Amino acid sequence: MTPIYLDNAATTPIAPEVVEAMLPYLKEEFGNPSSIHQLGNRTRVAIEEARKKVADLLNAHPSEIFFTSGGTEADNMALVQSVLDLGVKEIISTPIEHHAVEHTIQAMEKRNWIKAKWLSVNKLGQIDLDELENILKNQKVPTLVSIMHANNEIGTLNPLKRIAELCKEYNAYFHSDTVQTVGHFELDLKNTPVDFIAASAHKFHGPKGVGFIYINKNVKIKPFINGGAQERNMRGGTENVASIVGLAKALELAYQNLKKDMDYIKGLKNYAIERLSEAIPDMQFNGPTNEKALYTVLNCSFPDHPQGMMFLYKLDIAGICASAGSACSSGSNVGSHVLKAIGAPADRHAIRFSFSKYNTKEEIDKVVDLMKEIYSTVKV
Ligand SMILES: Cc1ncc(COP(=O)(O)O)c(C=O)c1O
Repeated sequence: MTPIYLDNAATTPIAPEVVEAMLPYLKEEFGNPSSIHQLGNRTRVAIEEARKKVADLLNAHPSEIFFTSGGTEADNMALVQSVLDLGVKEIISTPIEHHAVEHTIQAMEKRNWIKAKWLSVNKLGQIDLDELENILKNQKVPTLVSIMHANNEIGTLNPLKRIAELCKEYNAYFHSDTVQTVGHFELDLKNTPVDFIAASAHKFHGPKGVGFIYINKNVKIKPFINGGAQERNMRGGTENVASIVGLAKALELAYQNLKKDMDYIKGLKNYAIERLSEAIPDMQFNGPTNEKALYTVLNCSFPDHPQGMMFLYKLDIAGICASAGSACSSGSNVGSHVLKAIGAPADRHAIRFSFSKYNTKEEIDKVVDLMKEIYSTVKV
């Protein structure tokens, strides 16, 4: 049985064209990019071509793109090096950041490197720009703002450009975790005054274990990973050549078909909202269901039900891959810090479905039919 894969915010299936582009670098093109012979030169050229492709697609300069092991490393680098090299003393962030950001800030606060200030979020996971502006206005020390572009659990989108402009106005550095939006939304980095963004290839049909950090050319930080002179002295370690080539290919494909794929996936999400709302009484959704959320993510909030804790297990048995998320924190289930922060009721069950261009309406029909069946088995 081929699984129905609806967990694309966790990771996406790699595109066949990406695998094709990577294969030569897993076979005959194995040279170390630091070697000065022809095999090394060829892999060096492949990396620089990939960097140029990525920079062009995001309207950045190639010297602003540094390949990393993924989104987590890019987030860590932006946060830690801002403190070590830019003199940042306070970090303003949100309580619904991915752990790559949240735990890094908390770890630095524990060591007394910084003070963290957490913005409030409303029921939809949205921040209040006036609150941010008021805090920024009164900042007395060098400050970094770290606000994700889109939330991976409930999909809430933040106004990246508006936040970037506010940070610029009040002389704060700005990092955005754009892991869920790179390859899904157009980004114009030359016209967005952001200092850092983080990206990860496996969220846009590229390989796992590779990503990049964008560092605005006006910002000077030192490496997070020390070692050789790779990545223009900004990240030691022999490059993951095949994956870097795959990342660039995946991003190119994503932006070639952006509008078409976006419309298609939006259609799937809206169809799922419609069908689930009809099928299950008191069906609700966590996060916005309109344009103010990722078109790839739908976080469903189901009313309490005796089978509630078994939903994901039953879906899995039926070959349906989705993600859990609940606001509760009992036993081994530590719950979702995101759902808790938006005040999602602990007695409802949350399941995140996340879509890609490879999903179909027929798959959604199967999921809804099964959910309906589970719900009607035992009456609440
Ligand atoms: C918003 C967000 N940030 C960061 C990450 C971490 O990225 P990676 O898996 O490449 O380390 C993820 C992945 O789940 C994410 O969704």
